[in-house]
Formats: sequence, C-alpha cells, structure tokens
Amino acid sequence: MTNPSLLILPGDGIGPEVMAEVRRIIDWFGTQRGLVFDVSEDLVGGCAYDKHGTPLHDDTMARAQDADAVLLGAVGGPQYDDLDFSVKPERGLLRLRKEMDLFSNLRPAQCFDALADFSSLKKDVVAGLDIMIVRELTSGVYFGEPRGIFKEGNERVGINTQRYTESEIARVARSAFDLAMKRSKKLCSMEKANVMESGILWREVVTEVGRDYPEVTLSHMYADAGAMQLTRWPKQFDVIVTDNLFGDLLSDLAAMLTGSLGMLPSASLGAPMANGRPKALYEPVHGSAPDIAGQGKANPIACILSLAMALRYSFDQGAEAARLEGAVERVLADGLRTADLMGPEGGVPVSTSGMGDAILAALDASL
Ligand code: IPM
Ligand code: MG
Repeated sequence: MTNPSLLILPGDGIGPEVMAEVRRIIDWFGTQRGLVFDVSEDLVGGCAYDKHGTPLHDDTMARAQDADAVLLGAVGGPQYDDLDFSVKPERGLLRLRKEMDLFSNLRPAQCFDALADFSSLKKDVVAGLDIMIVRELTSGVYFGEPRGIFKEGNERVGINTQRYTESEIARVARSAFDLAMKRSKKLCSMEKANVMESGILWREVVTEVGRDYPEVTLSHMYADAGAMQLTRWPKQFDVIVTDNLFGDLLSDLAAMLTGSLGMLPSASLGAPMANGRPKALYEPVHGSAPDIAGQGKANPIACILSLAMALRYSFDQGAEAARLEGAVERVLADGLRTADLMGPEGGVPVSTSGMGDAILAALDASL
C-alpha cells in the first residue's frame, strides 16, 4: 500500500507561514496516528510567476491532477497588481479549479463559542452558528464566453457572460443535497430567477434534483434577499447552494458573521478519481494578507481547519478531523489568540507558530 499523496502549494504572502504549521500537524498525524502522507511542495501564484513567468506551471498542474488532495495557502500581493491579467496570481488558482473540474466548493461558516463576541452582529444572532455554503466553482460568469473588453463604436465595452448548463447545475445541486442529507436535511438554493434566465433554469434544475431527495426540505430565495436574511437571522439556514459569483459574495458575508475570516477553511471537490476519492483542493478562505506577511502574526487556523476538511472529505478520517477541530476549539477556549483575534480589551497575541504549538499540545492531550 502506498501512502496517499498530498500536494502542498503554500503560495504567497502569509501562505508559507501558515502552511508551515499545517506541515507540523501533518507530521503529528503521521507519528501519532499512523496517518502517513506522501507530501510534496510546489509553487502557485506570484511566487510561481517570479520563477517561471506563469502563476501555475504545467508541471505543477499535472502534479495537482495526480495528487490525492491539494492543500493551498493563498495567492497574490501588491507587487503583482500591474501584471497582465492572464498571468496574475489569481489566474493560477482559477486554472487549478477549472482544470481539476472542482465544481463544488464547500465553505462552512461556523462561529466558535469562544469568539462569538467578535462578530459585528449581536451575540445571540451568531452564537452556535454552523452553516455551509456550497458554491458552484467552475462555471457561471467567472468562465462564460464571450468575455473581454471590446471596442464598440468609439467606446469600449466590458463583457462577461453568465452561463450555466443543466448538467452543471445538477451536479452541484446533487453535492449540496448529499451534504444536506448528512446534516439537518435543509437546503436553500439562491439565485436571481426574477431577473436572470440562468436563475430560472437554476431553480428548475435544483427542484428536479430535489425529487431524488424527498427527505430534504428545499427552499428557494433570491440571492439579494438571501444576503439580507443571512445578516438578519443566519441560523435559519443550514446548507445553501448557489452559483459562482453569488457564492463568492455570500460566502464572504457569511464568513464575517463569525467575526473572523482567519478561521474559515474551504474544500473544492470534483468528480471521483479512479481510487474513489474526489478530486480535491483545500484552502483557507482568507487571502495572502501581504501587509502582515513574514512577521509571524498570521492566524494559521483557517489553513489547519482546511487540513481537517481534507481528512474528512478526501481520506475518510472523520474522527481524526473531529480530533483536529476539537484541538482548535480547545486552544480558543483556553483564550489563545493570534493578533487578528485581539478584542478591544487587548492582551498579548500569540504568534503563528505559537498557535501551532498550542494546537499540537492540544492534539497530544487528545490521545
Ligand atoms: C475566493 C476569491 C477568489 C474568487 C479570487 C481570489 C479569484 O475571492 O476564493 O472567494 O473570486 O473566487
Ligand atoms: Mg471571494
């Protein structure tokens, strides 16, 4: 038996420093739990551009296709702002998503008890919040053609196209229903069927797929009303399924309900590979935070929880994933905070590696 393979792409900004903590935790699972991975590392984003002139080298793309799971840190930075659009760091990430066909993007928004005071909303609105946004990730206006900036008469016109096929909607809907079955059997689909034909089709297809899931209560909401309801009373939701662009917006909104973007992981899943595992890429929801990069200030928790998602969704290690999530909860309950989690009352923040140390200690204590 060969070990499952993990390709690690730390990326730019705080990516490498948060990923360093993840690597220590991967090692811990190897020595303490016999969960050994073949880990390799490569470049994505601005650092790949600096070395190869492209944010994702073809060899890296090929390695990602072959890996049992990919773990990504973050991409981007101000020094790349003026690069041509086609080689911007983000294009590397979008290429991975597209070519691996990672159509189902799972973005949990979970409020840790110890952090409920951090939300900009009242504590009772967010305490205990645990919702999952399933965002379609490989189609819609992000990829639709025609796209571009064209000349029309004597002015320019910028064009992007929202486009969804039935099968693209059906497969992401199915993944959301499957997830709803494992949670509270409640699914809300969001689109703009009142103004967009793609929204009308979205609603129809999600409803059709729902016939295979009679136990799941399906509701529909216009995405703008959904945004409003998410801020008004987010606990009315459990699983939300929506398209690429609405999912981008709504997941940032939902993330902020929890008060801490530095805490949230994500999984991007595709079709099963020959070994039965889904094609998968895991990454924190936060960005590369260039303003604090290299200072040991970054919060590694989102990236560490992304590893937990990998254990659960790629490697069928739900109990070990729960062990890791429990360790994170433990250190937060103990009052440990990185700089991003410092409240107005202040305190001494722990460094990136200090947070890693504490989570490792909590893992030890869990044995
Ligand atoms: C996200 C990000 C990306 C997106 C960017 C970095 C391309 O905002 O993952 O939510 O828009 O999908
Ligand atoms: Mg986004």
